[in-house]
Amino acid sequence: MSLILAIESSCDDTSAAVLRDDYLLSNVIASQKVHEKYGGVVPELASRAHQQNIVPVVDTAIKEAGIDKKDIDAVAFTRGPGLLGSLLVGVSFAKSFAQALNIPLIEVNHLQAHVLSHFIRRQECDVPTFPFMCLLVSGGHTQILLLHNHFEMEVLGQTIDDAAGEAIDKAAKIMDLGYPGGPIIDRLAKEGNPDAFQFATPQIAGYNYSFSGIKTSFLYFLRDRLKEDPDFIQKNKADLCASIQKCIMSFLLRKFEKAALSRRIRQVAIAGGVSANSYLRNGIEELGRKHHWKTFVPTMQFCTDNAAMVGIAGYYKYLRGEFADPALPPYTN
Ligand code: KG4
Ligand code: ZN
Repeated sequence: MSLILAIESSCDDTSAAVLRDDYLLSNVIASQKVHEKYGGVVPELASRAHQQNIVPVVDTAIKEAGIDKKDIDAVAFTRGPGLLGSLLVGVSFAKSFAQALNIPLIEVNHLQAHVLSHFIRRQECDVPTFPFMCLLVSGGHTQILLLHNHFEMEVLGQTIDDAAGEAIDKAAKIMDLGYPGGPIIDRLAKEGNPDAFQFATPQIAGYNYSFSGIKTSFLYFLRDRLKEDPDFIQKNKADLCASIQKCIMSFLLRKFEKAALSRRIRQVAIAGGVSANSYLRNGIEELGRKHHWKTFVPTMQFCTDNAAMVGIAGYYKYLRGEFADPALPPYTN
């Protein structure tokens, strides 16, 4: 039996979780609102907010788990990729905590953690078996991964420019909807017609993606329409959101479907912040029904950044005895 404390601070969420083996006991997330008025994450403000949040967040996670600090066996932390100033807060905290309790440290890769979130054990809930394919879509990454085991992830395709989350956030910014744009577009799209407007998707070889062209075509389309009617966005907001969301999400799903068919995969998953998107969630379930695939869609608390996923990745490393050197620096990419 192991008790693991996990810390996540790679971007703008400060999070701590406690796991008993692969069971989650607590998962506390403090999201930073300070960035909203700037339309994106301001690194300096993010690291300051992590400094303020880290102690109370860890404290709450330990209390909610109903455990005693001295029973913790190891501390897992996100080493990277992420913003340096943000990572440093979590990394330094994890190191001091482990040193104070004289327990080992486990370094975790943030992207692996997103994928491994599907292995967090809960009642009445299956976990994937290998091999399975995962569409990892966040604000910084877009990858089609084939998992051979918990740590061997083959990259079958990825974006050659912007990440899917970045593209959807930029579309929201063009419409002046606020930040982060993904959840706002998702909400407004519910009232709109996804076939109202069409935006071309690029022809990219293999299972790779490209999103910068979609963003540009959306920008130029709106620029032309706004010349004719300055209220065009206001009048068509829901339809614009539904259409751009369909364009991006169906592009993601089309390539993922092709990749999974080519490898004769029977189990598929989505992970990362964009996996909170309702079009994508419905889309993967639909693919599952069509091809008789078993699908894994994360619950909302495991979509965006959280320490529970760091804890589960940490647990599998703990089983392998893979501990980190206390002198390890964070890495940004
Ligand atoms: O994984 P994450 O929290 O942070 C990174 O590691 O990047 O992902 C954040 C991204 C943002 O681009 C955000 O707009 C997007 O996830 N996102 C969504 C939704 N919720 C979050 N995108 C579309 N629909 C959503 N419901
Ligand atoms: Zn993330």
